Amino acid sequence: MTAMIYPTTNPSATETMVVARGEGPYIFDKAGKRYLEGMAGLWCTALGYGNEEIIETATRQMRELSFSHMFSGKTHPAAIELADKLAAMVPIENAQVFLGNSGSDANDTLMKLIRYYAAASGQPQRTKIIAREKGYHGVTLASAALTGLAPNHTHFQLPFDALGVLRTGAPHYYRCANPGESEGEFVARRADELEQLILAEGPDTIAAMIAEPVNGAGGVIVPPDGYFESIQAVLDRYGIILWDDEVICGFGRLGTDFGATRLNMKPKMMACAKALSSAYVPISAAIVSGDIADVIADSATQMGVFGHGYTYSGHPLGCAVASKVIDIYQRDNLFEHAAVMGRYLQSKLASYIDHPLVGEVSSIGLLGALELVADKATKKPFDGMKVAQFCAAAAEQNGLIVRPLGGNRIALCPPLIIQEQHVDEIDQKLRRALDSTLDWVTREGLK
Ligand SMILES: Cc1ncc(COP(=O)(O)O)c(C=O)c1O
Repeated sequence: MTAMIYPTTNPSATETMVVARGEGPYIFDKAGKRYLEGMAGLWCTALGYGNEEIIETATRQMRELSFSHMFSGKTHPAAIELADKLAAMVPIENAQVFLGNSGSDANDTLMKLIRYYAAASGQPQRTKIIAREKGYHGVTLASAALTGLAPNHTHFQLPFDALGVLRTGAPHYYRCANPGESEGEFVARRADELEQLILAEGPDTIAAMIAEPVNGAGGVIVPPDGYFESIQAVLDRYGIILWDDEVICGFGRLGTDFGATRLNMKPKMMACAKALSSAYVPISAAIVSGDIADVIADSATQMGVFGHGYTYSGHPLGCAVASKVIDIYQRDNLFEHAAVMGRYLQSKLASYIDHPLVGEVSSIGLLGALELVADKATKKPFDGMKVAQFCAAAAEQNGLIVRPLGGNRIALCPPLIIQEQHVDEIDQKLRRALDSTLDWVTREGLK
């Protein structure tokens, strides 16, 4: 081990891989072994590695202006261009954009903006946020409190109460439906539970509900048909804002510009990061509708300042790269390409439901997951995560990167630039990994 404290890692584990370089959808380790990056890094390297246009844009921007802060109204052309580009493409009216560095800080910023908005609009009590079980929104104190996954909470004494975080159920039909409940009945129950929570807490104390279009780190949970329409109807009844966490789904992942478009969400706030720059450099965007931004601006004008900003808000490098990345997405029709490749990936994944280890296949666009179970008929889960970890390690041995998630789910999220032969490669290598996992599980008597 080096002097590093690794993020989201078992501190007693040794280093598992030294990634030396990347090229297109592939990465190479120190020994030169090639892996197809079936997870786009951490759901982010949408354009793959080594894109010369981006490298050139970054170099030019660093030569021209390597830094400018944005405090006190100072700005620069790359930031203005990016904000305008984002505002024009998001499904939010008169959108206004605040720039940061990570998905977590975008959600933190939105948490502050919504509290500021509540105070400025004469409803200072309206600050509670509804978040969902199995949601993932980041790891700063505020965004971790919104996250609905136990490992991100344990020992951190997160400010759930201070931040007014309320929790509602995940849209996971396979794991959360009652016996005999249809998908439609499950959706209606989730909407009713949400409404009961709102009524119990007092509707005028609740500002927003945060949701990923498809839960990523919580297991790649594709909500059943009609889920967001039902949730949106409840929120609209009580004037509660839908806060859309697009950190994974934004920029083509579901085969559309944003997850909100694909799943018919009507957000007034949105967090973006990851594919915003295809992860070439860190940058995030916290986006709010014009009516929210106007109220905040009026109030801040009276006070003299809006007291929130990062040194690296609107960093010129991130802005120039993100702008170029968006141009490439649009010029090369990559969201449509992702839809086409997504359908091909789904056609392959669908057959995995016949594998003796697979209890659920979930997929939409270029995003997918398999849940590995001890008993398919009863949905009996395996303990811990070791079966998914074994499977991911077996895939890695075959030259494919996948991600083991809680609940023994194997996630797939390849770069948007992949072609049919890469999907075929994922399919062959994943199937081999699953078969060796089945052998191991059988040998160990786990099944
Ligand atoms: C949906 C979602 N929101 C927020 C985040 C946090 O982003 P970051 O890791 O850049 O802070 C993530 C990270 O995976 C995410 O998947």
